[in-house]
Amino acid sequence: MTHLDQSVTAPTPSTEPRLSFSDVEMVFPDGTHTLTDVSFDVHPGEFVTVVGPSGCGKSTLLRIASGLETETGGTVVVDRSNIGFVFQDATLLDWRVVKDNVELFAELHDMPQEERSQRSQHAIDLVGLSGFEQHYPRALSGGMKMRASIARSLMMSPPVFLFDEPFGALDEITRENLQAELMDLFVSENFAGLFITHSIYEAVYLSTRVLVMSNRPGRIVADIAVPFDYPRSQDLRFDPAFAELAGQVSHELRGAH
Ligand SMILES: Nc1ncnc2c1ncn2[C@@H]1O[C@H](COP(=O)(O)OP(=O)(O)O)[C@@H](O)[C@H]1O
Ligand SMILES: [Mg+2]
Repeated sequence: MTHLDQSVTAPTPSTEPRLSFSDVEMVFPDGTHTLTDVSFDVHPGEFVTVVGPSGCGKSTLLRIASGLETETGGTVVVDRSNIGFVFQDATLLDWRVVKDNVELFAELHDMPQEERSQRSQHAIDLVGLSGFEQHYPRALSGGMKMRASIARSLMMSPPVFLFDEPFGALDEITRENLQAELMDLFVSENFAGLFITHSIYEAVYLSTRVLVMSNRPGRIVADIAVPFDYPRSQDLRFDPAFAELAGQVSHELRGAH
């Protein structure tokens, strides 16, 4: 994946949020109370990460944002006509080569073939999969599959991009590389990002803000700004200021119940 040459800072957040949760409640039909009193906004130029213990409602929150689930209380405002969504599993179609997988959403949106082809090639180049266009998913590593999955959403230029623990199944080095590459994409493509993880370090490394969720029913117990400029070097992970913020997130997580 291409790293940006010049030093750039994150796009400045504008006033109008692209995604807004107000007092959101989620109670499943079987009575499982999963989310309570969840309120937050994501503006353009923001990369917001939600961390929380397993089962606290993180995926539910993201599924509500995307429209796959409907909240049972409160309000969610987002333009759902074009949302990027990357899951922990790359969800590629085994019988399609990379290029055809990347073009899937565009096909579903009836994008003209020439535009589709140009955009998919651009996205494939951006995620560093040039040369693998005609490979089937079975011939790709876990990290490459995830890159293809990101490219599939990226080629639609989504104003809002949702990620549900996309790097959770990857080895540490692949994971760190993909984190750096995702940050570059965030800066160059200017989407509003909402990223779910249970990794404190991933959250602090990637985000402009970290939201900490409590155990189920999940509510937001802390909202921590991360002030480092982009692009962030790998060395930032060993910076005392980074460790201090990670410690703060960890403290909030342990105190959350
Ligand atoms: N469709 C559903 N019906 C009932 N309970 C559900 C449903 N989906 C998720 N849950 C429950 O909601 C809780 C939160 O799940 P989830 O959002 O997947 O958590 P996380 O992603 O934080 O691990 C879990 O207890 C889970 O069993
Ligand atoms: Mg989950």
